[in-house]
Amino acid sequence: MSNPPSNALDCKNKEMALQNKELSKNVLLSQAHIWNHMFSFIKSMSLKCAIELEIPDIIDRHGSPMLLSELVKALAIRQERTQSVYRLMRILVHSGFFVKQSVSTTKGCDEEEGEGYLLTPASRMLLKEDPLSVRPFLLGMLDPIMMDPWQDMSKWFRNDDATPIHTTHGRSLWDLGVTDPGLFQLFNEAMANDSRLVMSIVLEQCGGVFQGLDSIVDVGGRSGKVAKAIAEAFPDVSCICFDLPHVVNGLVGSKNLTYVGGDMFEAIPNANAVLIKWTLHDWSDEECKKILKNCKKAIPCKEKRGKLVIIDMVMKVDEGDNELLETQILFDMLMMNCLTGRERSEKEWSELFLDAGFSDYKITPILGLRSLIEVYP
Ligand SMILES: C[S@@+](CC[C@H](N)C(=O)[O-])C[C@H]1O[C@@H](n2cnc3c(N)ncnc32)[C@H](O)[C@@H]1O
Repeated sequence: MSNPPSNALDCKNKEMALQNKELSKNVLLSQAHIWNHMFSFIKSMSLKCAIELEIPDIIDRHGSPMLLSELVKALAIRQERTQSVYRLMRILVHSGFFVKQSVSTTKGCDEEEGEGYLLTPASRMLLKEDPLSVRPFLLGMLDPIMMDPWQDMSKWFRNDDATPIHTTHGRSLWDLGVTDPGLFQLFNEAMANDSRLVMSIVLEQCGGVFQGLDSIVDVGGRSGKVAKAIAEAFPDVSCICFDLPHVVNGLVGSKNLTYVGGDMFEAIPNANAVLIKWTLHDWSDEECKKILKNCKKAIPCKEKRGKLVIIDMVMKVDEGDNELLETQILFDMLMMNCLTGRERSEKEWSELFLDAGFSDYKITPILGLRSLIEVYP
Protein backbone atom coordinates (compact mmCIF):
# COMPACT_ATOMS: atom_id res chain seq x y z
CA MET A 1 0.00 0.00 0.00
CA SER A 2 1.40 3.44 -0.92
CA ASN A 3 1.91 6.13 1.78
CA PRO A 4 -0.47 9.14 1.80
CA PRO A 5 1.14 12.33 0.34
CA SER A 6 2.91 14.41 3.00
CA ASN A 7 0.56 17.44 2.81
CA ALA A 8 -2.39 15.08 3.48
CA LEU A 9 -0.50 13.88 6.57
CA ASP A 10 0.09 17.51 7.64
CA CYS A 11 -3.67 18.15 7.44
CA LYS A 12 -4.42 15.03 9.48
CA ASN A 13 -1.86 16.09 12.13
CA LYS A 14 -3.33 19.58 12.27
CA GLU A 15 -6.86 18.23 12.72
CA MET A 16 -5.69 16.00 15.56
CA ALA A 17 -3.88 18.90 17.16
CA LEU A 18 -7.06 20.99 17.06
CA GLN A 19 -8.72 18.47 19.31
CA ASN A 20 -6.35 19.77 21.97
CA LYS A 21 -8.35 22.61 23.65
CA GLU A 22 -5.42 24.92 24.26
CA LEU A 23 -4.16 24.62 20.70
CA SER A 24 -7.58 25.21 19.18
CA LYS A 25 -8.03 28.33 21.35
CA ASN A 26 -4.75 29.68 19.97
CA VAL A 27 -5.75 28.89 16.39
CA LEU A 28 -9.06 30.74 16.84
CA LEU A 29 -7.27 33.71 18.42
CA SER A 30 -4.90 33.78 15.45
CA GLN A 31 -7.88 33.68 13.09
CA ALA A 32 -9.46 36.65 14.95
CA HIS A 33 -6.10 38.49 14.80
CA ILE A 34 -5.95 38.03 11.03
CA TRP A 35 -9.58 39.10 10.56
CA ASN A 36 -9.04 42.16 12.73
CA HIS A 37 -5.94 43.14 10.76
CA MET A 38 -7.54 42.35 7.41
CA PHE A 39 -10.50 44.59 8.14
CA SER A 40 -8.63 47.50 9.75
CA PHE A 41 -9.36 49.55 6.62
CA ILE A 42 -13.05 49.47 7.63
CA LYS A 43 -12.13 51.70 10.60
CA SER A 44 -10.60 54.40 8.39
CA MET A 45 -13.30 54.11 5.71
CA SER A 46 -16.07 54.40 8.32
CA LEU A 47 -14.42 57.52 9.73
CA LYS A 48 -14.06 58.97 6.23
CA CYS A 49 -17.74 58.30 5.57
CA ALA A 50 -18.75 60.10 8.78
CA ILE A 51 -16.52 63.06 7.87
CA GLU A 52 -17.99 63.27 4.34
CA LEU A 53 -21.49 63.20 5.87
CA GLU A 54 -20.27 65.98 8.25
CA ILE A 55 -21.51 64.02 11.28
CA PRO A 56 -19.07 65.69 13.74
CA ASP A 57 -20.18 69.17 12.56
CA ILE A 58 -23.87 68.21 12.83
CA ILE A 59 -23.45 66.91 16.40
CA ASP A 60 -21.39 69.97 17.31
CA ARG A 61 -24.07 72.34 15.98
CA HIS A 62 -26.75 70.41 17.91
CA GLY A 63 -24.99 71.44 21.10
CA SER A 64 -26.30 68.60 23.33
CA PRO A 65 -26.41 64.77 23.16
CA MET A 66 -28.01 63.99 19.78
CA LEU A 67 -30.50 61.14 19.43
CA LEU A 68 -30.16 58.78 16.48
CA SER A 69 -33.53 60.00 15.14
CA GLU A 70 -32.34 63.62 15.35
CA LEU A 71 -29.07 62.74 13.62
CA VAL A 72 -30.86 60.95 10.76
CA LYS A 73 -33.19 63.94 10.33
CA ALA A 74 -30.27 66.39 10.29
CA LEU A 75 -28.41 64.23 7.75
CA ALA A 76 -31.40 64.64 5.40
CA ILE A 77 -31.15 61.02 4.26
CA ARG A 78 -33.83 58.35 3.80
CA GLN A 79 -35.49 57.18 7.06
CA GLU A 80 -34.69 53.58 5.97
CA ARG A 81 -31.01 54.32 6.56
CA THR A 82 -31.57 54.75 10.34
CA GLN A 83 -30.22 51.27 11.23
CA SER A 84 -27.20 51.85 8.99
CA VAL A 85 -26.43 55.19 10.67
CA TYR A 86 -26.71 53.37 14.03
CA ARG A 87 -24.18 50.77 12.83
CA LEU A 88 -21.81 53.41 11.47
CA MET A 89 -21.99 55.29 14.78
CA ARG A 90 -21.44 52.06 16.74
CA ILE A 91 -18.04 51.41 15.16
CA LEU A 92 -17.05 55.05 15.67
CA VAL A 93 -18.16 54.98 19.33
CA HIS A 94 -16.12 51.80 19.69
CA SER A 95 -13.08 53.57 18.17
CA GLY A 96 -13.41 56.58 20.50
CA PHE A 97 -14.72 59.19 18.04
CA PHE A 98 -18.10 59.63 19.73
CA VAL A 99 -19.56 58.84 23.16
CA LYS A 100 -23.15 58.10 24.12
CA GLN A 101 -25.00 59.80 26.95
CA SER A 102 -28.52 59.33 28.33
CA VAL A 103 -30.92 61.99 27.18
CA SER A 104 -34.64 62.74 27.43
CA THR A 105 -36.37 65.15 25.05
CA THR A 106 -39.98 66.37 24.90
CA LYS A 107 -41.85 66.14 21.60
CA GLY A 108 -45.33 67.66 22.04
CA CYS A 109 -46.75 65.77 25.05
CA ASP A 110 -44.39 62.80 24.61
CA GLU A 111 -41.09 62.40 26.29
CA GLU A 112 -38.50 60.56 24.16
CA GLU A 113 -35.84 58.78 26.18
CA GLY A 114 -32.67 57.34 24.75
CA GLU A 115 -28.97 57.79 24.30
CA GLY A 116 -27.53 60.73 22.43
CA TYR A 117 -24.18 61.08 20.65
CA LEU A 118 -21.54 63.56 21.76
CA LEU A 119 -18.13 64.45 20.32
CA THR A 120 -14.86 63.32 21.89
CA PRO A 121 -11.52 65.21 21.77
CA ALA A 122 -10.60 63.17 18.65
CA SER A 123 -13.76 64.08 16.67
CA ARG A 124 -13.40 67.72 17.76
CA MET A 125 -10.16 67.68 15.74
CA LEU A 126 -12.18 66.69 12.67
CA LEU A 127 -14.57 69.67 12.63
CA LYS A 128 -14.68 71.56 9.34
CA GLU A 129 -14.12 75.04 10.71
CA ASP A 130 -11.48 74.19 13.34
CA PRO A 131 -8.23 75.95 12.28
CA LEU A 132 -6.32 72.91 13.65
CA SER A 133 -8.59 70.38 11.91
CA VAL A 134 -7.11 67.06 10.76
CA ARG A 135 -10.08 66.72 8.33
CA PRO A 136 -8.17 67.80 5.15
CA PHE A 137 -5.28 65.44 5.99
CA LEU A 138 -7.70 62.54 6.48
CA LEU A 139 -9.60 63.27 3.25
CA GLY A 140 -6.34 63.70 1.31
CA MET A 141 -4.69 60.53 2.61
CA LEU A 142 -7.84 58.44 2.06
CA ASP A 143 -8.49 59.83 -1.43
CA PRO A 144 -8.43 57.04 -4.07
CA ILE A 145 -5.38 58.72 -5.68
CA MET A 146 -3.45 58.07 -2.47
CA MET A 147 -5.11 54.72 -1.70
CA ASP A 148 -4.68 53.01 -5.10
CA PRO A 149 -0.85 52.71 -4.81
CA TRP A 150 -1.30 50.42 -1.77
CA GLN A 151 -2.83 47.88 -4.17
CA ASP A 152 0.35 48.08 -6.28
CA MET A 153 2.89 47.76 -3.46
CA SER A 154 3.81 44.12 -4.18
CA LYS A 155 4.18 45.00 -7.90
CA TRP A 156 6.52 47.85 -6.87
CA PHE A 157 8.68 45.48 -4.78
CA ARG A 158 9.40 43.58 -8.01
CA ASN A 159 9.99 46.57 -10.31
CA ASP A 160 12.43 49.50 -10.12
CA ASP A 161 9.98 52.45 -9.85
CA ALA A 162 10.88 55.09 -7.25
CA THR A 163 7.65 54.59 -5.27
CA PRO A 164 4.36 52.66 -5.51
CA ILE A 165 2.79 56.03 -6.47
CA HIS A 166 4.97 55.96 -9.62
CA THR A 167 3.83 52.38 -10.32
CA THR A 168 0.16 53.38 -10.12
CA HIS A 169 0.16 56.93 -11.47
CA GLY A 170 3.40 57.12 -13.46
CA ARG A 171 4.64 60.24 -11.63
CA SER A 172 5.74 61.51 -8.22
CA LEU A 173 3.51 62.77 -5.42
CA TRP A 174 4.78 66.31 -6.01
CA ASP A 175 3.83 66.10 -9.72
CA LEU A 176 0.40 64.70 -8.79
CA GLY A 177 -0.02 67.73 -6.51
CA VAL A 178 0.51 69.99 -9.54
CA THR A 179 -1.91 68.15 -11.83
CA ASP A 180 -4.68 67.47 -9.32
CA PRO A 181 -6.00 70.76 -7.90
CA GLY A 182 -8.31 68.99 -5.39
CA LEU A 183 -5.43 67.04 -3.85
CA PHE A 184 -3.19 70.15 -3.94
CA GLN A 185 -5.83 72.10 -2.00
CA LEU A 186 -6.36 69.34 0.61
CA PHE A 187 -2.59 68.97 1.02
CA ASN A 188 -2.21 72.76 1.49
CA GLU A 189 -4.96 72.90 4.10
CA ALA A 190 -3.64 69.79 5.89
CA MET A 191 -0.13 71.24 6.17
CA ALA A 192 -1.41 74.69 7.20
CA ASN A 193 -3.61 73.27 9.98
CA ASP A 194 -0.82 71.04 11.25
CA SER A 195 1.62 73.97 11.24
CA ARG A 196 -0.78 76.07 13.33
CA LEU A 197 -1.02 73.26 15.90
CA VAL A 198 2.71 72.54 16.01
CA MET A 199 3.76 76.20 16.15
CA SER A 200 1.36 77.05 18.98
CA ILE A 201 3.05 74.33 21.07
CA VAL A 202 6.61 75.15 19.94
CA LEU A 203 6.24 78.89 20.62
CA GLU A 204 4.58 78.23 23.99
CA GLN A 205 7.06 75.62 25.22
CA CYS A 206 10.27 76.27 23.24
CA GLY A 207 10.05 79.91 22.12
CA GLY A 208 13.66 80.39 23.28
CA VAL A 209 14.82 78.48 20.20
CA PHE A 210 14.12 81.60 18.08
CA GLN A 211 15.33 84.20 20.61
CA GLY A 212 18.31 86.30 19.48
CA LEU A 213 17.96 85.46 15.77
CA ASP A 214 18.03 88.15 13.06
CA SER A 215 16.66 85.90 10.35
CA ILE A 216 15.25 82.43 9.71
CA VAL A 217 14.30 80.51 6.56
CA ASP A 218 11.60 77.82 6.63
CA VAL A 219 12.59 75.26 3.97
CA GLY A 220 9.64 73.48 2.32
CA GLY A 221 7.49 76.03 4.16
CA ARG A 222 4.46 75.55 1.89
CA SER A 223 1.79 78.23 2.60
CA GLY A 224 4.02 79.86 5.22
CA LYS A 225 2.06 79.16 8.43
CA VAL A 226 5.25 78.29 10.33
CA ALA A 227 7.17 81.37 9.11
CA LYS A 228 4.08 83.52 9.78
CA ALA A 229 3.80 82.29 13.38
CA ILE A 230 7.50 83.11 13.99
CA ALA A 231 7.20 86.48 12.20
CA GLU A 232 4.26 87.47 14.42
CA ALA A 233 5.84 86.24 17.68
CA PHE A 234 9.23 87.84 16.86
CA PRO A 235 8.62 91.07 14.87
CA ASP A 236 12.41 91.77 14.73
CA VAL A 237 13.23 88.45 13.05
CA SER A 238 13.06 88.53 9.29
CA CYS A 239 11.43 85.32 8.05
CA ILE A 240 11.53 83.61 4.67
CA CYS A 241 9.14 80.88 3.55
CA PHE A 242 11.05 78.90 0.91
CA ASP A 243 9.34 76.30 -1.30
CA LEU A 244 9.04 75.20 -4.93
CA PRO A 245 8.17 78.16 -7.20
CA HIS A 246 4.69 76.85 -8.14
CA VAL A 247 3.85 76.48 -4.41
CA VAL A 248 4.78 80.02 -3.31
CA ASN A 249 3.98 81.94 -6.51
CA GLY A 250 1.48 84.70 -5.77
CA LEU A 251 1.66 84.38 -1.97
CA VAL A 252 1.92 87.76 -0.26
CA GLY A 253 4.18 88.30 2.75
CA SER A 254 4.25 91.01 5.42
CA LYS A 255 6.75 93.47 6.98
CA ASN A 256 9.03 90.65 8.16
CA LEU A 257 7.85 87.70 6.05
CA THR A 258 8.80 87.04 2.43
CA TYR A 259 8.14 84.12 0.10
CA VAL A 260 11.00 82.79 -2.03
CA GLY A 261 10.65 80.10 -4.71
CA GLY A 262 13.51 77.69 -5.43
CA ASP A 263 14.86 74.17 -5.12
CA MET A 264 16.38 73.06 -1.80
CA PHE A 265 18.58 70.58 -3.71
CA GLU A 266 20.20 73.56 -5.51
CA ALA A 267 20.54 76.25 -2.82
CA ILE A 268 18.75 77.64 0.24
CA PRO A 269 18.61 81.40 1.04
CA ASN A 270 21.08 82.50 3.75
CA ALA A 271 19.81 83.15 7.29
CA ASN A 272 20.89 82.87 10.97
CA ALA A 273 18.85 79.70 11.23
CA VAL A 274 17.14 77.21 8.95
CA LEU A 275 13.93 75.49 9.98
CA ILE A 276 12.65 72.41 8.19
CA LYS A 277 9.38 70.91 9.35
CA TRP A 278 7.91 67.55 8.31
CA THR A 279 9.96 67.54 5.10
CA LEU A 280 13.15 65.50 5.65
CA HIS A 281 11.10 62.34 6.27
CA ASP A 282 9.92 62.67 2.63
CA TRP A 283 13.43 61.94 1.35
CA SER A 284 15.96 59.09 1.25
CA ASP A 285 19.21 59.28 3.24
CA GLU A 286 21.19 60.36 0.16
CA GLU A 287 18.65 63.07 -0.68
CA CYS A 288 18.54 64.22 2.97
CA LYS A 289 22.33 64.56 3.04
CA LYS A 290 22.17 66.91 0.03
CA ILE A 291 19.43 69.01 1.68
CA LEU A 292 21.27 69.06 5.03
CA LYS A 293 24.54 70.13 3.36
CA ASN A 294 22.65 73.01 1.68
CA CYS A 295 21.11 73.91 5.08
CA LYS A 296 24.62 74.05 6.54
CA LYS A 297 25.83 76.30 3.70
CA ALA A 298 22.91 78.69 4.37
CA ILE A 299 23.70 79.30 8.08
CA PRO A 300 26.69 80.88 9.88
CA CYS A 301 29.48 78.70 11.33
CA LYS A 302 29.60 77.25 14.88
CA GLU A 303 31.35 80.36 16.34
CA LYS A 304 28.62 82.61 14.94
CA ARG A 305 25.96 80.31 16.39
CA GLY A 306 24.14 79.28 13.23
CA LYS A 307 21.64 76.50 13.73
CA LEU A 308 19.23 74.18 12.02
CA VAL A 309 15.83 73.42 13.60
CA ILE A 310 14.10 70.22 12.44
CA ILE A 311 10.55 69.23 13.32
CA ASP A 312 10.03 65.57 12.46
CA MET A 313 9.57 62.12 13.98
CA VAL A 314 12.22 60.34 16.01
CA MET A 315 11.12 56.70 16.06
CA LYS A 316 10.97 55.29 19.55
CA VAL A 317 12.16 51.86 18.47
CA ASP A 318 13.12 50.62 21.95
CA GLU A 319 9.84 51.43 23.67
CA GLY A 320 7.03 48.92 24.21
CA ASP A 321 4.13 48.29 21.87
CA ASN A 322 1.75 51.22 22.09
CA GLU A 323 -0.40 53.38 19.83
CA LEU A 324 2.28 56.04 19.41
CA LEU A 325 4.91 53.58 18.22
CA GLU A 326 2.41 51.86 15.93
CA THR A 327 1.47 55.23 14.40
CA GLN A 328 5.14 56.00 13.76
CA ILE A 329 5.50 52.63 12.02
CA LEU A 330 2.38 53.40 9.94
CA PHE A 331 3.91 56.75 8.92
CA ASP A 332 7.09 54.98 7.90
CA MET A 333 5.05 52.71 5.59
CA LEU A 334 3.23 55.79 4.25
CA MET A 335 6.60 57.36 3.36
CA MET A 336 7.58 54.15 1.57
CA ASN A 337 4.30 54.12 -0.35
CA CYS A 338 4.23 57.67 -1.60
CA LEU A 339 7.76 59.07 -1.36
CA THR A 340 11.38 57.96 -1.19
CA GLY A 341 11.62 58.86 2.50
CA ARG A 342 11.34 57.10 5.85
CA GLU A 343 10.90 57.73 9.56
CA ARG A 344 14.18 57.62 11.48
CA SER A 345 15.45 56.61 14.92
CA GLU A 346 17.78 58.90 16.89
CA LYS A 347 20.75 56.81 15.75
CA GLU A 348 19.75 57.22 12.08
CA TRP A 349 19.25 60.98 12.48
CA SER A 350 22.63 61.40 14.21
CA GLU A 351 24.41 59.52 11.41
CA LEU A 352 22.79 61.83 8.84
CA PHE A 353 23.83 64.94 10.81
CA LEU A 354 27.45 63.76 11.08
CA ASP A 355 27.59 62.79 7.39
CA ALA A 356 26.28 66.24 6.40
CA GLY A 357 29.02 67.95 8.46
CA PHE A 358 27.11 68.98 11.60
CA SER A 359 28.82 68.49 14.98
CA ASP A 360 26.06 68.16 17.57
CA TYR A 361 22.31 68.03 18.11
CA LYS A 362 19.65 68.24 20.83
CA ILE A 363 16.25 66.50 20.70
CA THR A 364 13.26 67.98 22.56
CA PRO A 365 10.32 65.55 22.42
CA ILE A 366 7.45 68.01 22.94
CA LEU A 367 5.26 67.21 19.96
CA GLY A 368 3.73 63.80 20.64
CA LEU A 369 4.77 61.68 17.69
CA ARG A 370 7.25 64.30 16.55
CA SER A 371 10.18 66.11 18.16
CA LEU A 372 11.98 69.40 17.82
CA ILE A 373 15.63 68.77 16.93
CA GLU A 374 18.25 71.54 17.10
CA VAL A 375 21.32 70.75 15.02
CA TYR A 376 24.59 72.70 15.29
CA PRO A 377 27.36 73.21 12.70
C1 LIG B 1 5.36 67.45 3.63
S1 LIG B 1 5.40 69.08 3.05
C2 LIG B 1 5.72 70.00 4.53
C3 LIG B 1 5.22 71.40 4.44
C4 LIG B 1 5.47 72.26 5.68
N1 LIG B 1 6.87 72.28 6.06
C5 LIG B 1 4.62 71.80 6.84
O1 LIG B 1 5.08 71.07 7.69
O2 LIG B 1 3.44 72.20 6.89
C6 LIG B 1 6.96 69.16 2.19
C7 LIG B 1 7.18 70.45 1.45
O3 LIG B 1 8.42 70.38 0.74
C8 LIG B 1 8.25 71.09 -0.49
N2 LIG B 1 9.29 70.67 -1.44
C9 LIG B 1 9.36 69.52 -2.15
N3 LIG B 1 10.44 69.51 -2.93
C10 LIG B 1 11.08 70.70 -2.73
C11 LIG B 1 12.27 71.28 -3.26
N4 LIG B 1 13.01 70.60 -4.14
N5 LIG B 1 12.64 72.50 -2.82
C12 LIG B 1 11.88 73.17 -1.92
N6 LIG B 1 10.74 72.65 -1.36
C13 LIG B 1 10.34 71.44 -1.77
C14 LIG B 1 6.85 70.70 -0.92
O4 LIG B 1 6.33 71.58 -1.89
C15 LIG B 1 6.11 70.75 0.41
O5 LIG B 1 5.55 72.00 0.65
